[in-house]
Amino acid sequence: MRLQAALFIAACVSPAVAIYSDEVNHIDFHHALLGAPSPDSTFFLKPSSSSNASLLYTISDKSIVGAINPRDGTLIWRQDISRSGSASSAAGILRGLDGNNAVVGAAGDSISSWGAQDGKLIWENRFADGVVADLELLELEDARATSSARDTIALTGGESTGVVRRLDGDSGETKWEYKDNSGDVAFQVSSSPTEVFYISLQSAMLKGYKIKVTALDPVTGRQTHQQVLNSESDVASPESILFVGANTASPLIVWADKSHKSLKVNVIGTKQISTINIDNTSGQDIQQITVHAPHKLNSLPHFLVHYETESGAWAEVYHVDMKSSAVSKAYQLPYLQGQSAVATNNVDANVFFTRVTDSEAIVVSSASHGILGRWNVDASSTDRVLHAVAEVVTKGKTVAVRAAVLRKSGDWSLIRNGQTEWTRPEALIYAVAAAWVEDEDQEELAHELEVEGHEGLIGAYIHRVKRHLRDLQHLPEWLKELPKRIITSILTDEVSNLDSFGVAQSIIVATEKGRVYALDTGRQGAIKWGVQAEETSHWDIKSILSQPGSAVIYISDGSSVQINSSTGEVISRSAPTNNKLQSIATFEQQVGSSVIRMGSLGIQEDGTPVAPFDDITGFLVTTSNDGRVLGWVEKDNKHPVWEFVPPSGQKLIKAVSRPSHDPVASIGKVLGNRSVLYKYLNPNLVLVTAVDEKDHTAGFYLLDGVSGKVLYSTTQAGVDPTQPIASAISENWFAYSFFGDVVDESSSKGYQLVISELYESPLPNDRGPLDSAGNYSSLHSNIPLPHVVSQAYLIPEPISHMAVTQTRQGITIRQLICVLPSSNAIVGIPRHVLDPRRPVDRDPTSAEAEEGLFRYAPFLEFDGKWYLSHSRDVAGIKTVLSRPTLLESTSLIFAFGGDIFGTRATPSHAFDILGKSFSKLQLVLTVVALAAGVAFLAPMTRKKQVNMLWKAT
Ligand SMILES: *[C@@H]1O[C@H](CO)[C@@H](O)[C@H](O)[C@H]1NC(C)=O
Ligand SMILES: *[C@@H]1O[C@H](CO)[C@@H](O)[C@H](O)[C@H]1NC(C)=O
Ligand SMILES: *[C@@H]1O[C@H](CO)[C@@H](O)[C@H](O)[C@H]1NC(C)=O
Ligand SMILES: *[C@@H]1O[C@H](CO)[C@@H](O)[C@H](O)[C@H]1NC(C)=O
Ligand SMILES: *[C@@H]1O[C@H](CO)[C@@H](O)[C@H](O)[C@H]1NC(C)=O
Repeated sequence: MRLQAALFIAACVSPAVAIYSDEVNHIDFHHALLGAPSPDSTFFLKPSSSSNASLLYTISDKSIVGAINPRDGTLIWRQDISRSGSASSAAGILRGLDGNNAVVGAAGDSISSWGAQDGKLIWENRFADGVVADLELLELEDARATSSARDTIALTGGESTGVVRRLDGDSGETKWEYKDNSGDVAFQVSSSPTEVFYISLQSAMLKGYKIKVTALDPVTGRQTHQQVLNSESDVASPESILFVGANTASPLIVWADKSHKSLKVNVIGTKQISTINIDNTSGQDIQQITVHAPHKLNSLPHFLVHYETESGAWAEVYHVDMKSSAVSKAYQLPYLQGQSAVATNNVDANVFFTRVTDSEAIVVSSASHGILGRWNVDASSTDRVLHAVAEVVTKGKTVAVRAAVLRKSGDWSLIRNGQTEWTRPEALIYAVAAAWVEDEDQEELAHELEVEGHEGLIGAYIHRVKRHLRDLQHLPEWLKELPKRIITSILTDEVSNLDSFGVAQSIIVATEKGRVYALDTGRQGAIKWGVQAEETSHWDIKSILSQPGSAVIYISDGSSVQINSSTGEVISRSAPTNNKLQSIATFEQQVGSSVIRMGSLGIQEDGTPVAPFDDITGFLVTTSNDGRVLGWVEKDNKHPVWEFVPPSGQKLIKAVSRPSHDPVASIGKVLGNRSVLYKYLNPNLVLVTAVDEKDHTAGFYLLDGVSGKVLYSTTQAGVDPTQPIASAISENWFAYSFFGDVVDESSSKGYQLVISELYESPLPNDRGPLDSAGNYSSLHSNIPLPHVVSQAYLIPEPISHMAVTQTRQGITIRQLICVLPSSNAIVGIPRHVLDPRRPVDRDPTSAEAEEGLFRYAPFLEFDGKWYLSHSRDVAGIKTVLSRPTLLESTSLIFAFGGDIFGTRATPSHAFDILGKSFSKLQLVLTVVALAAGVAFLAPMTRKKQVNMLWKAT
């Protein structure tokens, strides 16, 4: 009865509900990520000459340019510039100048300029002669320039040529170019107040490289002079050069000999090489030397060299004499155990160095060793610091500093005067797999219920009585808690109080860099824990299976790691096996409204299971790397029972099956005239997608997983195989999208979404050939084919991934969740909008209207209310997971792959949740008032009735 009532409500309320503005950040959360900031291209910068507050700019290893608000770590804007061809190999470069309204970034062969304040594209330029090797903004004012945007000096390097160009700040047009055909390695560019320098590496006769410096006139681009430095004994590869100073009064080239005994410094443009002996006082091998120098033209010619050993670090500060180009040591920052990072910046001409160590942050001036500011760092961490950028502010004698520190874990945090202000978990951008955490207690109950289900009537009854008696031990605690619970439930508002209904779930996310996180969807996706489960940069995760209390991560080499899901501790590891795995198959069974896992099995790349599955009754469908679909039954992992090969020329790209939790609330569809169309409900459906890259066709095949029989197939023509093709299957319907020919109007192409529904028979109230059969088997040769009703819709943009919302009983209308990569959004299209039975070219009859059908329109515009991500810019999503909650109306959504996004979908409104405006207190007061009124009025009424009786007689 309750179920019917819920069904009734679910069908009545108008579906498709938008998120209300007071629910933003309450029911949804979003980590807008960039990736790990690059050490040379991260800086604080004032976005325009009129603003005092600076923003934090970076380009990440994913080639995303972004501006962060240093106050709270929120993203102000970002642009993905990795699209440009061969960007993957070369690291991106980003440059900015105070007071310039633009930042200039490069990745691969393209250079683009972005508005510093709003991230709008100003210009973009591509060069055919190689990737961009270096970039500088010219700080010198061009007398003829009319605008404030500074010109860019860009160096592109190809096989044997290096080209230096000066690009106009406003338009990106080339003002001059200098070509170097000598075959040198194009290395960097730099500039001084009067010259532009092109630094290239010339192969020496025997081995190593000579550093060649070519000075160019900034106005004409003509070569003024050239110098070759004899560095070949030290410089074996471009990596040997530690630093090429840009835009300082005396730009430097610094390199070290191979044994790290001495440092060589050259002031660019001079012939002189100064040698500095390295004081190896720590008694340990020096592992890394970094040079920090200010990037401003007017700053003092001072620089700092930071030496890192295995367990500690120290730094030395040097001054350059502008006249003689001599380099002298000024002072030293002492050797300290633990990690240390140095950042430099300048206030007017003064240069400040900020050193962040495990225990403290200090600020010193480059002129003298006196410590200007010292703060204890609150969060000392075992997480190694990779690099830092800092901004020092001086006010009279006092200084303040904020430093953005990148740690090895991928956490990027801002430390302001020793306090950690915010942390951005940038490593989450590498997420490749995720799984919901299983609650321990709920699992127990499900198990008990299962035991009861398998016993006889009396046995089950005794079992249940015992279970309830056991539960009684919690009664005293429960009673003690009761008053508090009543009061809090009256006083707090309802929407924030749903955590006990399964909407506050944890989810485990694993990244390809070997880190594993647990996020709490009940607390805006906050990180509960993050651990480095494996030291690797490419963790080929195949699957995460979660079980009560723990989760197991399976890797392609056959190894696995088991992790405690409440603490992140590694419980156990298993060694790699000889079998390279393609995927992990799980056997699951739906018991009531929960899914119980029976077992799991690795699948090798050729599609064969690693072992026969003996103790599980079931079947298995796999795909092989040579493009076949294979069906397996228990006890045999050598010979598939069936095999499906797409027609020749077609390449298998995807196979999807119904989700393991896919409850069907009703087996038929009630039509307007009260007749019923019976759904074709086969739990073993598999939808296979194959494309022919030559013919530009795509085939979609619906298979029966047990027999391998093709139940339905269709081919689409004119398909662009380079565009995303997504598919999903649930209940008695499946959907797919692609870019291809539009059927009716010839010669036009578009993005299409096709939906197909499966029925037992085309006739209402008819169950087809299965009607009389009490049971049937898929293996039986004459398995009936479904009646398929399809409809295609033209959609405005591509869909890269599809998923279906899941609710507990399947009563709530489902939504087809689509990831829209070109607008960085996620939409949930209500299923009934896509109904293929919508009347074409006519208005619906009254019976059809009663069914909720409305006139078919070929073009499906995504309604603003369908956007689960509403106004958020959710970028890079690869996978969307859905999970039912204890509330039938609500489905949890979690999306990952680039950004992290989570929300709650209520496709039929939150019909089983009281709204925020509902006041329990008011209800209680009303009841009390009514009771008081009744108590007061009842005697009066009784008296009056008695009096009336007397009067009547
Ligand atoms: C910027 O700082 C200057 C001096 O520090 C101050 O006079 C001015 O009002 C500030 N401007 C803004 C927009 O805050
Ligand atoms: C530094 O000194 C230690 C011990 O004296 C020695 O083992 C190491 O090789 C030296 N490292 C360098 C780079 O000189
Ligand atoms: C996980 O850690 C918690 C807290 O340390 C512990 O109580 C629990 O038993 C652990 N679970 C497993 C499966 O080891
Ligand atoms: C009910 O309507 C469907 C079409 O909507 C029609 O095919 C069917 O024959 C009708 N059934 C009855 C009993 O009128
Ligand atoms: C299924 O039906 C066939 C005949 O139609 C019968 O022989 C078989 O015993 C039935 N199986 C079950 C499990 O009812």
